[in-house]
Amino acid sequence: MFNVPEQQKAIIFNTKTNSLSYTDSAPVVIAADELLIKVHSTAITNGELTWGSFINWPEEQIPCYDVSGTVLSTPTVSGSSHSFKEGDKIFGRIMANRRGAAQEYASILPSEAALVPKGLDMDSAACVPMSAHTAWQAIFEKGLLTGSFTPTSVPHVNSAGETILNQARGKRVLVLGAAGGVGLMGVQFAKLAGAFVAGTASAKNEDFLKGLNIDEVIDYTKLSIAEYVSSNDKFDMVFDCAGGRSMLDGWSGIKDNGVYVSVVPGFTEPEGGKPVGVRSEWFIMEPRSEELAGIGKFFEKGMLKVNVDSVWKLEEFREAFGKTATGHARGKVVLRVSDGEEE
Ligand SMILES: NC(=O)c1ccc[n+]([C@@H]2O[C@H](COP(=O)([O-])OP(=O)(O)OC[C@H]3O[C@@H](n4cnc5c(N)ncnc54)[C@H](OP(=O)(O)O)[C@@H]3O)[C@@H](O)[C@H]2O)c1
Repeated sequence: MFNVPEQQKAIIFNTKTNSLSYTDSAPVVIAADELLIKVHSTAITNGELTWGSFINWPEEQIPCYDVSGTVLSTPTVSGSSHSFKEGDKIFGRIMANRRGAAQEYASILPSEAALVPKGLDMDSAACVPMSAHTAWQAIFEKGLLTGSFTPTSVPHVNSAGETILNQARGKRVLVLGAAGGVGLMGVQFAKLAGAFVAGTASAKNEDFLKGLNIDEVIDYTKLSIAEYVSSNDKFDMVFDCAGGRSMLDGWSGIKDNGVYVSVVPGFTEPEGGKPVGVRSEWFIMEPRSEELAGIGKFFEKGMLKVNVDSVWKLEEFREAFGKTATGHARGKVVLRVSDGEEE
């Protein structure tokens, strides 16, 4: 049986003053239909503090929605169907209309969580859920890189433990912002599907991305996509994780009848309209337990990597949020909430 204190350490985002603060006396809130977890680590998403413009947050919101932790109790409502038990190490993405994970004790729905893949440490695990879901859904569900989106039409590990890959051989994919949390997942997913993958990043990230098996790194500080495609083939899919001018430049990289998927706020069509037959999608990811568990199997096989840009204590939240806000973190910035005793 666990002991949960009434008060805990947490980060509070005040939505009236638009400011973050640290407290050691936040209430512990237990939701009857959720898993109660002792948070090990949580990861920050760039731009997350602006989401209040479309989510009705209370005045004091707990930020950070990616989490790894240990299950202390399972839902107490009758009829809750899940396979988690006390002591399980889980990771997941909490929907941002509820309290986040920058607190010692957090709640997450079973439908948002999966068991941490064997071999993945808890800081790394906290970096995976939101980025992985976003990239998976962008490339396979919205972008339809493999032609259709079913559990067996996309890369997967089957019940015999075999990897089923290469459903998109011959396709060309461009990831804008390839070294960020979402981009690095997108690169690896498209590679699992057998596509040729190019990605934009600055020169300092070239070796890192080569380590993820990327085929080509385009240094966006030196070469635009418009320039790149003047002497290279265009792409079947462009996945925008960068936004702004890079997003607009990305339109010149897409083949007629290709697909352009973006997850960055401000996605717009180019002046003069889209290229012939190009389909475009902008969406907000959904947490899905089974999808995360399926992606986790590739981590267990050592076929996916994640990158922890840096790890900070909860009290160092300013530095951590500041690092994410530079827009140049390599992978994700982590707040380690517990001292790691449950690893
Ligand atoms: N819609 C959704 O559901 C959803 C979900 C998650 C995230 N997002 C959004 O997706 C975007 C990406 O998130 P993230 O967590 O991957 O990353 P991030 O922290 O914004 O990305 C950092 C990376 O972007 C690179 N970068 C910065 N400017 C670039 C440019 N002009 N061209 C190419 N690379 C550039 C940096 O590499 P260099 O240092 O080499 O420049 C760095 O590696 C954010 O805007 C986030 O809010 C949306």
